[in-house]
Amino acid sequence: MRLRRSILTAFCPLAAAGLLSLPAATAQSPAQTASTAAADRPWMNTSLTPDQRADLVIKAMTLDEKLDLVHGTGWGALKDGSPIAEGSNEGAGYVQGIPRLGIPGINMADSAVGVRLAARESRYATLLPSVLGAASSWDPEAAHLYGSVIGRELRDQGYNMSIGGGVDITREPRNGRNFEYAGEDPVLAGTMVGNVEKGVLDEKVMNDIKHYALNDQETGRTIVNAVLGKRAMRESDLLAFQIAIGIATPSAVMCSYNRVNGDYSCENDYLLNQVLKKDWDFKGFVVSDWMGTHSTVKAALAGLDNEEPGPNHPDDQEHDDNDAWFAAPLKAAVQNGQVPMSRLEDMDHRVLRSMFAAGVIDHPPFPRRVVDPFRGRDDAERIANESIVLLKNAEHLLPLDGGVKSIALIGSHADVGVLSGGGSAQVDAPGGNAADPQPGTMKWGEAVYFPSSPLKEIRRQAPHAAVEFNAGTDVAAAAALAKQSQVAIVFVNQPMIEGKDAKTLSLPDDQDALVEAVTAANPHTIVVLETGGPVTMPWADRVAGIVEAWYPGIGGAQSLANLLFGQVNPSGKLPVTFAKSDDQLPHPEVPGIGLKEKAVPGNPDHKELPRFDADYNTEGARVGYKWYESEHRTPLFPFGYGLSYTTYAYSNLKANAQERSVSFEVKNTGSVAGTEIAEVYAELPAKADEPFKRLVAWQRVALDPGESKTVTLKVDPLYLSIFNTDKNSFELLPGEYRILAGPSSAEPPLHATMTVAE
Ligand code: BGC
Repeated sequence: MRLRRSILTAFCPLAAAGLLSLPAATAQSPAQTASTAAADRPWMNTSLTPDQRADLVIKAMTLDEKLDLVHGTGWGALKDGSPIAEGSNEGAGYVQGIPRLGIPGINMADSAVGVRLAARESRYATLLPSVLGAASSWDPEAAHLYGSVIGRELRDQGYNMSIGGGVDITREPRNGRNFEYAGEDPVLAGTMVGNVEKGVLDEKVMNDIKHYALNDQETGRTIVNAVLGKRAMRESDLLAFQIAIGIATPSAVMCSYNRVNGDYSCENDYLLNQVLKKDWDFKGFVVSDWMGTHSTVKAALAGLDNEEPGPNHPDDQEHDDNDAWFAAPLKAAVQNGQVPMSRLEDMDHRVLRSMFAAGVIDHPPFPRRVVDPFRGRDDAERIANESIVLLKNAEHLLPLDGGVKSIALIGSHADVGVLSGGGSAQVDAPGGNAADPQPGTMKWGEAVYFPSSPLKEIRRQAPHAAVEFNAGTDVAAAAALAKQSQVAIVFVNQPMIEGKDAKTLSLPDDQDALVEAVTAANPHTIVVLETGGPVTMPWADRVAGIVEAWYPGIGGAQSLANLLFGQVNPSGKLPVTFAKSDDQLPHPEVPGIGLKEKAVPGNPDHKELPRFDADYNTEGARVGYKWYESEHRTPLFPFGYGLSYTTYAYSNLKANAQERSVSFEVKNTGSVAGTEIAEVYAELPAKADEPFKRLVAWQRVALDPGESKTVTLKVDPLYLSIFNTDKNSFELLPGEYRILAGPSSAEPPLHATMTVAE
């Protein structure tokens, strides 16, 4: 069953499209499949529920087929030289189908911010803004569009499952993967990522939510034990998953590498069986992160349903990773009764019902291997327009006047491209890294720039200005250029990658010194940040403008130019707090970051980091802004903060306890149209013992100059509840809730009381 991609597939378009190797039933049209349902394939009857259909398939499966569905086929395309299974589309994972029963294989692709590994097949994939960027829009519709782009391009490329959907909250602001996640607040993050993954599913592609749970740092990610009390966990990290899963109804939830309160996530009975499957009634399957499985019986009984990447082919001498827990060892465990057959069938049921529910059996993708790059770029730009956050605008320097005479553009390869995030979320840049063009799949660890040139776009929007670029590597030359220009725009960056946290919140490579020198030379200096997450800005008081562009995606240069020249009025708000310094954080150092590898006893050639705990009880549920508020610390920029080219006034807040709703007015008091993200927070009654407010609702409100709108928002009781560990359930405490509304988490101007009766 495992073949290398053959000469045939290289030269025959049908074979290259995967059609020759597809089982007969999967290559049929939906009408044909429905008509063959009756006799030998009763599960093709589309009037049955996904659960009924899954059960019918299981009745027809042999033991070996039942085992095939619960693990992948090995590293395949992820490791050079690893055999690629027949039917694999060369994504991160492949689960064999059951051709004789018309069940297709599952072709899984990493797709956090766009489809990964596209260049390998000379394909193109749209790079979207980072998830954190998109979360700055606070726009569930933009999030849904984000997922649609991914789903659409996955289908076009022959994949039927996305393994994106990261929703680990920003407990550790230096986490290397924060750009794949949606920020520090569980309600905002859960809502945004839930909508992204709903967008994927709506394209009839299986979807995923990951990395469950508390995979909040990359340092020691495969050994760290995240320690956190149940109440705090349920009200913070797990709440984000609960909300995302509720919205996305994901096909799969990926368990993470780390341990949680002692047990690895992928064999953690509390996380998988008790919370995910019982309390949240999750119907899909739990897939392990790649090599995140550590046992057969324990993992199977704790709730893991599918091991990835699965066992390597016996011929694969180079990669003899012992990752085959759910192949032969699971067969033995079922045969000797350690894992009941009913549990194996439950795993199969979860996989199959998710395939039926998503539509990948009735509507299999027919790969065209080409996506519509223009449509993707336009969608990416639309999302980026809402994602960029204006953090400072002294003396209304922005938007720049089209009549500006000279602009110094400095740093961060802004002549050729915009930065992207690294690791398994890396999308291949068309034509190769714009900063170092070498077409092909991007190298792990390299900071990859996409060909979206701020220099070109700024020149396009300021046709009469002299716009000169300086690389920023020679600080004196950059300052000299700034000095002779009317305005200086300095791009600074923080490349982030899976597997590695930033040591500090400071910008790398002495870029702070570059900004200081440029702003000393020219007070009209605007800093554009391309960062994975929050960074410190020791120069914040001395520059005129600060724009957080995150990793803005393939439409990034256009979006930035739109915003700098006022074609777009900024509306994004921070989904994470920006600290003044690392000392302000609950953990001034990333837990475990100083630990050194040690020789493994009995195996001196092999070195490992010693196991360690990340004690998240320090902050508990007080993640991000909740920490600052309860510790009375003032950050550099608060959660929910972002400026506009207009101003807004809030008034007339009313809270309706019966309806659990709030209403207030927002008015555009400036002279240009804009969209304000109006935020609602709640402080719980004293007996909740929570010295901080929580975000409970928000809305984007589009307003013309002078226009005023009444905003009425329902507040989900879950967002007001505390988790009662004795009752193992959320509880809405009776008492007085202080409701606050305004433009950010810092001192919202309106207050009202909502009384919840006994
Ligand atoms: C990452 C996952 C990813 C998987 C497959 C792992 O290292 O943690 O997020 O989906 O690899 O590439």
